[in-house]
Formats: sequence, structure tokens, C-alpha cells
Amino acid sequence: MPFEGDPPRVALIAAVAENGVIGADGGIPWRLSSDLKRFKALTMGHTLVMGRATFQSIGRPLPGRRTLVVTRTPLAGVETVPSLDAALAAAARPVFLAGGARIYAEGMARADTIFLTRVHAAPDGDTRFPTIDPAVFACVLEAKGERTEADDHEFDLLVLKRRVS
Ligand SMILES: NC(=O)c1ccc[n+]([C@@H]2O[C@H](COP(=O)([O-])OP(=O)(O)OC[C@H]3O[C@@H](n4cnc5c(N)ncnc54)[C@H](OP(=O)(O)O)[C@@H]3O)[C@@H](O)[C@H]2O)c1
Repeated sequence: MPFEGDPPRVALIAAVAENGVIGADGGIPWRLSSDLKRFKALTMGHTLVMGRATFQSIGRPLPGRRTLVVTRTPLAGVETVPSLDAALAAAARPVFLAGGARIYAEGMARADTIFLTRVHAAPDGDTRFPTIDPAVFACVLEAKGERTEADDHEFDLLVLKRRVS
């Protein structure tokens, strides 16, 4: 497992543009193959929690991971739960909260770790990542991503941890 330091218990995992955008028209407004690989490496074997729109944009449960979809309306072919609290009660640890905006906003109060890919772009979009309070989360790791031909933009890989109060 590619965790540095203490493994997370409840983590947010997101790719966020410089203007806070995470989504546009139900999809992600960039192609970053390296980030998808990082997402896979971090989450494989664990539980993913996502909102209904994010699940529908992916279209299926991701292999090798338990997927819990938060929605008021049960869906065929995937486990659904009515709230983030229900998801957190059902999930083993570590659990990864994979968006969208409300899952991130509600999950921020519950998370000990944020795996953030900072995408060096400012695309138009309709979905944004919530503000991270620097008094609550500290960046413990920041590395320049290795851009390949399959990546639209430069990017940095950050790990933030909840400060001990
Ligand atoms: N860049 C990234 O890392 C990243 C990650 C994830 C998603 N995205 C993008 O973000 C967009 C989707 O995000 P979104 O914010 O629009 O939608 P979303 O959170 O994926 O889905 C919204 C729906 O999920 C359910 N839901 C979410 N939070 C809930 C809660 N706390 N309690 C109960 N139900 C809840 C509701 O479903 P019902 O209406 O069915 O009740 C709600 O309408 C897409 O563009 C996607 O590609 C980007």
C-alpha cells in the first residue's frame, strides 16, 4: 500500500484545478492518466464512497474496491446508502471519499487525510472542491507529478493531514 506515514482511516481523494473546479457537465474537464493510476494505487482493496452523479459518470463499481453510492434512490448493480453517515457506518477502514462536492464538503469534517492532486489548469466547470482550512489540515507531502503524454496538464501530488489539536 503506497501510504507514507500513518495509513488514513477516512480520506478525501480529489483532483482539483487551480480555480477549485473538479467537474464540468457531469464529467472531469481534463485527462490525467497519471492521476487515475494514483487513484487506483491508493484505493485498491478498500472502500470508495461517492455521490450518485459521480457514480453515474463512472458508470460501474470500480474493480477490486467496495463502492458505496450515496443517494436517496437505490440503484441497481451497486450498494447504495442514504447518507454519508450511513456510508461511514458501513465501511471498513480505510475508506476513501471520492466526491462530488457535497460528499467532499460533508466528509471534510470526518476526514483525517486528504489526497489532493493539484491540476495546473483553470477550466470552466460547475462543480468545485470546498475550501481547505489551513488551521485544520496541514500539507505533509507535496511532490511534482511526473507528466506523461497521457496527461493534459502539469500537476502536483499533495497529502494533507488533520492537525492534532
Ligand atoms: N476531480 C475529481 O476528483 C472529481 C471527483 C468526483 C467527482 N467529480 C466530478 O464532480 C461532478 C459530480 O459531483 P456533484 O457534486 O455534482 O454530484 P455527486 O456528489 O457525485 O452526486 C450528487 C448526488 O449524490 C447524492 N448525495 C451526495 N451527497 C449526499 C449526502 N450527503 N446525502 C445524501 N445524498 C447525497 C444525491 O443523490 P440523489 O439525488 O440520487 O439523492 C445527490 O443528488 C462530476 O462532474 C464529476 O465528474 C470530480
